[in-house]
Amino acid sequence: MKKTILPMLLLSAIVLSMMGFEMVSNLPATEPVPQGKKEAVDNGIGPIKSVKLGKIDQDLVDQGNSIFYSKCYLCHDVDETKLAPPLRGVAKKQTPVFIMNYLLNTVEMQEKDATIKALMEQFPNVPKMPDQQLTKDQARSVLEFLRTIE
Ligand code: HEC
Repeated sequence: MKKTILPMLLLSAIVLSMMGFEMVSNLPATEPVPQGKKEAVDNGIGPIKSVKLGKIDQDLVDQGNSIFYSKCYLCHDVDETKLAPPLRGVAKKQTPVFIMNYLLNTVEMQEKDATIKALMEQFPNVPKMPDQQLTKDQARSVLEFLRTIE
Protein backbone atom coordinates (compact mmCIF):
# COMPACT_ATOMS: atom_id res chain seq x y z
CA MET A 1 0.00 0.00 0.00
CA LYS A 2 2.49 2.58 1.22
CA LYS A 3 4.53 2.23 -1.91
CA THR A 4 1.72 3.36 -4.18
CA ILE A 5 0.25 6.11 -2.03
CA LEU A 6 3.19 8.47 -2.18
CA PRO A 7 3.61 8.49 -5.96
CA MET A 8 -0.16 8.86 -6.27
CA LEU A 9 -0.17 11.84 -3.96
CA LEU A 10 2.72 13.42 -5.80
CA LEU A 11 1.06 12.85 -9.12
CA SER A 12 -2.19 14.39 -8.02
CA ALA A 13 -0.30 17.32 -6.53
CA ILE A 14 1.42 17.89 -9.84
CA VAL A 15 -1.83 17.59 -11.77
CA LEU A 16 -3.62 19.92 -9.40
CA SER A 17 -0.86 22.48 -9.51
CA MET A 18 -0.93 22.36 -13.29
CA MET A 19 -4.60 23.10 -13.04
CA GLY A 20 -3.80 26.16 -11.03
CA PHE A 21 -4.35 24.87 -7.53
CA GLU A 22 -1.87 25.91 -4.95
CA MET A 23 -1.53 22.92 -2.72
CA VAL A 24 0.80 24.51 -0.25
CA SER A 25 -1.22 27.60 0.44
CA ASN A 26 -4.34 25.50 0.95
CA LEU A 27 -2.78 23.57 3.75
CA PRO A 28 -3.85 24.75 7.18
CA ALA A 29 -1.05 26.64 8.89
CA THR A 30 -0.38 24.38 11.83
CA GLU A 31 2.81 25.97 13.08
CA PRO A 32 3.95 29.50 12.47
CA VAL A 33 7.40 29.69 10.90
CA PRO A 34 9.81 30.59 13.68
CA GLN A 35 11.23 34.04 13.03
CA GLY A 36 14.81 32.99 13.57
CA LYS A 37 14.63 30.32 10.92
CA LYS A 38 13.77 32.69 8.14
CA GLU A 39 16.71 33.66 5.99
CA ALA A 40 16.48 37.20 7.22
CA VAL A 41 18.55 39.74 5.34
CA ASP A 42 20.87 41.57 7.68
CA ASN A 43 21.04 45.21 6.70
CA GLY A 44 22.88 46.13 9.84
CA ILE A 45 21.96 49.00 12.11
CA GLY A 46 22.51 52.59 11.19
CA PRO A 47 21.49 55.62 9.19
CA ILE A 48 21.28 53.89 5.78
CA LYS A 49 17.95 52.41 4.77
CA SER A 50 18.51 51.91 1.06
CA VAL A 51 21.26 52.29 -1.49
CA LYS A 52 20.75 52.75 -5.20
CA LEU A 53 23.29 50.87 -7.25
CA GLY A 54 23.82 51.67 -10.89
CA LYS A 55 26.59 50.94 -13.31
CA ILE A 56 30.03 51.16 -11.71
CA ASP A 57 30.95 54.83 -11.35
CA GLN A 58 34.69 55.08 -11.93
CA ASP A 59 35.13 58.43 -10.16
CA LEU A 60 33.55 56.99 -7.05
CA VAL A 61 35.70 53.86 -7.36
CA ASP A 62 38.84 56.02 -7.46
CA GLN A 63 37.80 57.90 -4.32
CA GLY A 64 36.92 54.65 -2.57
CA ASN A 65 40.17 53.09 -3.67
CA SER A 66 42.26 55.82 -2.06
CA ILE A 67 40.22 55.68 1.14
CA PHE A 68 40.68 51.92 1.20
CA TYR A 69 44.45 52.16 0.94
CA SER A 70 44.72 54.95 3.50
CA LYS A 71 42.18 53.79 6.09
CA CYS A 72 41.49 50.10 5.68
CA TYR A 73 44.57 48.50 4.21
CA LEU A 74 46.31 48.45 7.56
CA CYS A 75 44.02 45.57 8.47
CA HIS A 76 42.32 44.44 5.25
CA ASP A 77 43.78 43.29 1.98
CA VAL A 78 41.77 42.42 -1.09
CA ASP A 79 42.72 38.75 -1.19
CA GLU A 80 44.93 37.99 1.75
CA THR A 81 43.96 37.73 5.37
CA LYS A 82 46.02 40.33 7.17
CA LEU A 83 44.69 41.32 10.58
CA ALA A 84 41.16 41.20 9.27
CA PRO A 85 39.22 39.29 6.62
CA PRO A 86 40.06 39.98 2.97
CA LEU A 87 37.41 42.12 1.36
CA ARG A 88 37.11 40.54 -2.06
CA GLY A 89 33.53 39.39 -2.48
CA VAL A 90 32.22 41.23 0.55
CA ALA A 91 29.91 43.37 -1.60
CA LYS A 92 28.23 40.15 -2.70
CA LYS A 93 28.23 38.52 0.70
CA GLN A 94 26.73 41.48 2.54
CA THR A 95 24.09 43.90 1.33
CA PRO A 96 25.15 47.42 0.28
CA VAL A 97 23.05 48.80 3.13
CA PHE A 98 24.81 46.53 5.62
CA ILE A 99 28.25 47.60 4.44
CA MET A 100 27.46 51.31 4.57
CA ASN A 101 25.87 50.99 7.97
CA TYR A 102 28.90 49.15 9.31
CA LEU A 103 31.20 51.84 8.00
CA LEU A 104 29.07 54.64 9.42
CA ASN A 105 27.90 53.07 12.66
CA THR A 106 30.72 50.69 13.48
CA VAL A 107 30.56 50.66 17.24
CA GLU A 108 26.83 50.12 17.62
CA MET A 109 26.91 47.28 15.11
CA GLN A 110 29.77 45.65 16.99
CA GLU A 111 27.59 45.73 20.08
CA LYS A 112 24.29 44.67 18.54
CA ASP A 113 24.52 43.17 15.08
CA ALA A 114 24.57 39.36 15.10
CA THR A 115 26.58 39.05 11.87
CA ILE A 116 29.31 41.37 13.07
CA LYS A 117 29.40 39.83 16.53
CA ALA A 118 29.92 36.38 15.01
CA LEU A 119 32.62 37.75 12.73
CA MET A 120 34.42 39.43 15.61
CA GLU A 121 34.61 36.08 17.37
CA GLN A 122 36.65 34.80 14.46
CA PHE A 123 39.19 37.56 15.01
CA PRO A 124 39.56 37.61 18.78
CA ASN A 125 43.09 38.94 18.81
CA VAL A 126 42.58 41.84 16.47
CA PRO A 127 41.74 45.27 17.83
CA LYS A 128 38.13 46.09 17.06
CA MET A 129 37.58 47.69 13.72
CA PRO A 130 37.58 51.38 14.61
CA ASP A 131 34.91 53.77 13.45
CA GLN A 132 36.70 55.54 10.63
CA GLN A 133 34.58 58.69 10.85
CA LEU A 134 33.70 58.49 7.18
CA THR A 135 31.06 60.74 5.71
CA LYS A 136 28.14 59.12 3.90
CA ASP A 137 29.69 60.07 0.57
CA GLN A 138 33.01 58.54 1.53
CA ALA A 139 31.33 55.33 2.70
CA ARG A 140 29.41 55.23 -0.57
CA SER A 141 32.66 55.53 -2.52
CA VAL A 142 34.25 52.73 -0.51
CA LEU A 143 31.20 50.60 -1.34
CA GLU A 144 31.70 51.40 -5.02
CA PHE A 145 35.33 50.29 -4.76
CA LEU A 146 34.26 47.08 -3.00
CA ARG A 147 31.85 46.38 -5.87
CA THR A 148 34.83 46.26 -8.23
CA ILE A 149 36.49 43.51 -6.21
CA GLU A 150 33.57 41.14 -6.22
C1 HEC B 1 42.12 47.96 13.03
C2 HEC B 1 41.85 47.08 11.93
C3 HEC B 1 40.76 47.44 10.93
C4 HEC B 1 40.64 48.57 10.14
C5 HEC B 1 41.56 49.78 10.08
C6 HEC B 1 39.46 48.35 9.32
N1 HEC B 1 38.88 47.15 9.61
FE1 HEC B 1 37.25 46.31 8.70
N2 HEC B 1 37.33 44.78 9.98
C7 HEC B 1 38.30 44.54 10.92
C8 HEC B 1 38.02 43.31 11.61
C9 HEC B 1 38.88 42.69 12.72
C10 HEC B 1 36.86 42.79 11.05
C11 HEC B 1 36.16 41.48 11.43
C12 HEC B 1 35.43 41.65 12.73
C13 HEC B 1 34.45 42.74 12.65
O1 HEC B 1 33.54 42.65 11.83
O2 HEC B 1 34.60 43.74 13.33
C14 HEC B 1 36.43 43.74 10.03
C15 HEC B 1 35.29 43.60 9.26
C16 HEC B 1 34.96 44.39 8.19
C17 HEC B 1 33.84 44.18 7.30
C18 HEC B 1 32.84 43.06 7.38
C19 HEC B 1 33.44 41.91 6.59
C20 HEC B 1 32.49 40.79 6.32
O3 HEC B 1 33.01 39.73 5.92
O4 HEC B 1 31.29 40.94 6.47
C21 HEC B 1 33.89 45.16 6.36
C22 HEC B 1 32.94 45.36 5.20
C23 HEC B 1 35.00 45.99 6.67
N3 HEC B 1 35.64 45.51 7.79
C24 HEC B 1 35.37 47.08 5.94
C25 HEC B 1 36.38 47.96 6.32
C26 HEC B 1 36.68 49.18 5.61
C27 HEC B 1 36.01 49.60 4.31
C28 HEC B 1 37.66 49.82 6.30
C29 HEC B 1 38.27 51.15 6.01
C30 HEC B 1 37.36 52.26 5.88
C31 HEC B 1 38.00 48.96 7.44
N4 HEC B 1 37.20 47.85 7.40
C32 HEC B 1 39.00 49.25 8.36
C33 HEC B 1 39.39 45.34 11.18
C34 HEC B 1 39.64 46.56 10.59
